[in-house]
Amino acid sequence: MLRDLARYVRPHRGRVALALVLAVGTSALALPNIDLLGNIVYQITRRDADYAQVMPSVERMLWILHGLIALRQLVSFVRDFTITRLNESIQFQVRLDLFRHLTELSPSFYERRLTGGILAQMLRDAGAVNAFIMAVVVSPLVDVLTFLACVSYAIWVSPSLFAAVAALIPFYVIVFKLTNGRMMFWAKRGRDEFEAMTGHLTERLTGMQEVQLFNAVGRETEKFGGILERFRSVNVRTSLWQGLAMASSALLNAVGPLLVLWMSVRLIRDGRMNVGEFMKFYALLGMLYAPVSRFIEVNSIYRMNVPSLAKVLGFFATPSEVTDRPGATPLPAVRGEVEIDHVDFAYGGGPPTGKLALPVFRGLSFRISPGEKVGIVGPSGCGKSTVIKLLARFVDARSGAVRIDGRDVRDVTLSSLRDAVGVVSQVPFIFKASIRENILYGRPGASFEEVVAAAKAANIHEEILGFPGGYESDAGERGAMLSGGQRQRVAIARVLLRDPRILLLDEATSALDTESERLVQQAVDRLAEGKTCLIVAHRLSTLTTCDRIVVLDEGRVVEEGPMQALLDRGGLFARLWRMQTEAHVARPPDGR
Ligand SMILES: Nc1ncnc2c1ncn2[C@@H]1O[C@H](COP(=O)(O)OP(=O)(O)OP(=O)(O)O)[C@@H](O)[C@H]1O
Ligand SMILES: [Mg+2]
Repeated sequence: MLRDLARYVRPHRGRVALALVLAVGTSALALPNIDLLGNIVYQITRRDADYAQVMPSVERMLWILHGLIALRQLVSFVRDFTITRLNESIQFQVRLDLFRHLTELSPSFYERRLTGGILAQMLRDAGAVNAFIMAVVVSPLVDVLTFLACVSYAIWVSPSLFAAVAALIPFYVIVFKLTNGRMMFWAKRGRDEFEAMTGHLTERLTGMQEVQLFNAVGRETEKFGGILERFRSVNVRTSLWQGLAMASSALLNAVGPLLVLWMSVRLIRDGRMNVGEFMKFYALLGMLYAPVSRFIEVNSIYRMNVPSLAKVLGFFATPSEVTDRPGATPLPAVRGEVEIDHVDFAYGGGPPTGKLALPVFRGLSFRISPGEKVGIVGPSGCGKSTVIKLLARFVDARSGAVRIDGRDVRDVTLSSLRDAVGVVSQVPFIFKASIRENILYGRPGASFEEVVAAAKAANIHEEILGFPGGYESDAGERGAMLSGGQRQRVAIARVLLRDPRILLLDEATSALDTESERLVQQAVDRLAEGKTCLIVAHRLSTLTTCDRIVVLDEGRVVEEGPMQALLDRGGLFARLWRMQTEAHVARPPDGR
């Protein structure tokens, strides 16, 4: 684990070294302070003190002491600032790496995890890496050095007092042993409950409309209360054990001075020590115990953060199920031939269960020539959207191959593949940004004129001009300010701007009215011009302009051919067609 973390510390070696030097400097400056203070006390409490003679030297020492204290404050300020900057740089890097890794993970990862849980990871766990490095790498080094310096100094001042103080150390060890395991246990639970809470919360916030529509406010509040209650009780227990650990070490910290006082009285009485030496030792005590009690504190930080840390590192180890193969090369200029060759596919296979769901495809095969426009139809759940996911490589075939221009999509780089295919998905995602930015997402370098041209071709330009802010109008979260049909046309404009060779279109199931269907249809036709085009259609009427139609059922192609041929054949397509047209025209039952 430490080796993984070293990666984050290494670029900041210089700053870590500076922090160390400054920290040691702060401690080192404390020793002369103590020594001076002790000497001053010694000078003024001496039985034979001649104040007239002593005062100038005491005053001089006071000035030096003052200077040293100021210097020490300055050094410790620079130290703290250096450490803060180090902290921030490390957190920055961890979060950036987490985000980059997130962008590389395949959709199957996101299907298994709640968004809020991932958020918890970004915010809380990334901070843990930082706390961990500070607590476990930087401060112990300083503490060990301080401790050694103080021990030497203490032995020099009074060996017998030191022995008394050292006798307390085993008690620290006992406290440590008693509280350690429990602290760790509750910390891990706390981390998991936090993830559960944020996960649940973000999901419900997104689905608030459903919560309200189904009058589930009471139910949901109760459910969230339950989650909060678990979080609360785990936190209380964590702080109980943490507090106990801290309190016991504080108690021991208080015993030390009493012990020193008790012994000093005797030593001074017997003339084996003077008041100045007592002062020195007494002042030193704090510095002696500080590293020991901080060790307990550091240990608690360590224990508290290990679960988060393990999560972050474990997360970095999560492989993406879809990645570039070693030796993958970019797709060369794409002609646009698509081939699905005896593909078997089933969802699942990843953690937590590792089980495969029922197969979606069994020996699925079909081809699309460059520039051809092919419609895909079939009953709901037959795998139409999955075909698109296979082509865009969101999932990989279990056996068989998906090819573009004769090259297996698994042998080309993902980024070149995603340049070649454009997808308008069944539920297009609109970002919370202006409409212009949403369209521009297709090709960030495009000019505003190109954005407008794309919007015109997608039949959305007029409507955008009608919005209060025009192209700068905010689309709202997930495009909440747009209607379903508008969202789809913005998504089409986005893909138009991208201008890919192969176009994959997943028609929304939500029935648009005839007018907006016509608008979308026109947009699609313009989009499809001169491209290889695969259109998943639920409304069969949208397929009239297709060159060919592929009908899927039960994991394979059951019919294939031009629309008229399929209608004449009287198979599944003809049946689906009849059902839809009858539903539309509402003929009488015997009206055929
Ligand atoms: N991420 C997933 N994990 C597990 N199973 C899935 C996943 N996505 C889809 N499925 C299942 O795979 C099958 C095919 O789904 P797909 O989305 O391809 O259907 P579809 O033909 O597009 O349906 P529709 O016409 O309703 O959009 C369905 O039975 C579905 O339950
Ligand atoms: Mg679908």
